[in-house]
Amino acid sequence: MEKVMHVPEVVLNSGYKMPLLGMGTAAYPMPIDDLTCILVDAIETGYRHFDTATLYGSEEAVGRAVAEAIERGIIKSRQQVFITSKLWCTEAHPQLVLPALKNTLGKLGLDYVDLYLIHWPISMKPGPVDILKFKKEDIVPFDMKGVWKAMEACCMLGLAKSIGVSNFSCTKLSQLLQIATIPPAVNQVEINVAWQQQKLLEYCKEKGVHVSAYSPLGAKGASWNSPIINDIATAKRKSIAQVALRWIYEQGASVIVKSFNKERMKQNLEMFDWELSTEDNFKIQDIPQKKGYNGEDFTHPNGPYKSVNDIWDGEI
Ligand SMILES: NC(=O)c1ccc[n+]([C@@H]2O[C@H](COP(=O)([O-])OP(=O)(O)OC[C@H]3O[C@@H](n4cnc5c(N)ncnc54)[C@H](OP(=O)(O)O)[C@@H]3O)[C@@H](O)[C@H]2O)c1
Repeated sequence: MEKVMHVPEVVLNSGYKMPLLGMGTAAYPMPIDDLTCILVDAIETGYRHFDTATLYGSEEAVGRAVAEAIERGIIKSRQQVFITSKLWCTEAHPQLVLPALKNTLGKLGLDYVDLYLIHWPISMKPGPVDILKFKKEDIVPFDMKGVWKAMEACCMLGLAKSIGVSNFSCTKLSQLLQIATIPPAVNQVEINVAWQQQKLLEYCKEKGVHVSAYSPLGAKGASWNSPIINDIATAKRKSIAQVALRWIYEQGASVIVKSFNKERMKQNLEMFDWELSTEDNFKIQDIPQKKGYNGEDFTHPNGPYKSVNDIWDGEI
């Protein structure tokens, strides 16, 4: 068996621990057997945190990979992995939340998820979970209070150990905190050296909500390809990806990175035993900022979000 890197953990406001590095699983379409093999490789390499979602179609493969890893003795029990899944917009209606989570658990073959997130602060008319099939006209007002109460019920039933949100601006998070009995444990958002989100990081820190960074290498793979990151990587004898990931970790956020290549999986794990200098951090602050995915697909002149600015409450 291979040597496994130790990944540090954060204690969430729910009291549960979460590894600060997670494996992304958004890759579609991919045969379940192939994805299962890749995810078993990831467990063997040392990943203990998996980020799935109903939208990604990867829940079944995550569940199978965990079962296979236990069977092969790579891990001893389900408790050794942290599994996140997400409620898709067509199910973001109070009465559909619990059935959606039960469906997710069925696909995972698990009794509970460690973390269940509202994927977007958006509701679509109930229907298939398919990003390619929705029409902008299907977007309806998001009942934040009703949906969150249903998320809290999932938590109280023990079906989700922690609950949280994704793609929430500071404004939306503040609205949620006012109505929540159980505060969100996590806000999963795009963060990378080209979309640094200092305001959101500070706000979440102040409120005790942990920030998880998706697309840490930059949506569409562009951001970390900056000459600034390249120079730091050369000087530190690290890869540019390692510098980009380390920077996120040093902001106090967790990193959800997707690699289905075993060498890059290993490389991405090697970011905890070295650090960036203050000077490196100053240089990284100068990288031009641009969000990779702005959610434009969810805007419509007659919908609840008329513009990208509405989705992010001007924080873009
Ligand atoms: N909540 C949300 O709305 C949301 C949105 C987007 C993503 N996510 C989650 O976050 C995860 C990660 O985000 P992402 O997939 O958008 O982007 P990412 O993890 O930043 O980048 C993935 C890309 O980088 C490549 N890569 C990974 N490690 C590398 C390395 N060391 N050197 C060079 N290339 C490397 C991967 O290719 P290889 O596989 O070939 O290595 C892949 O093409 C997703 O899978 C998903 O779980 C959540």
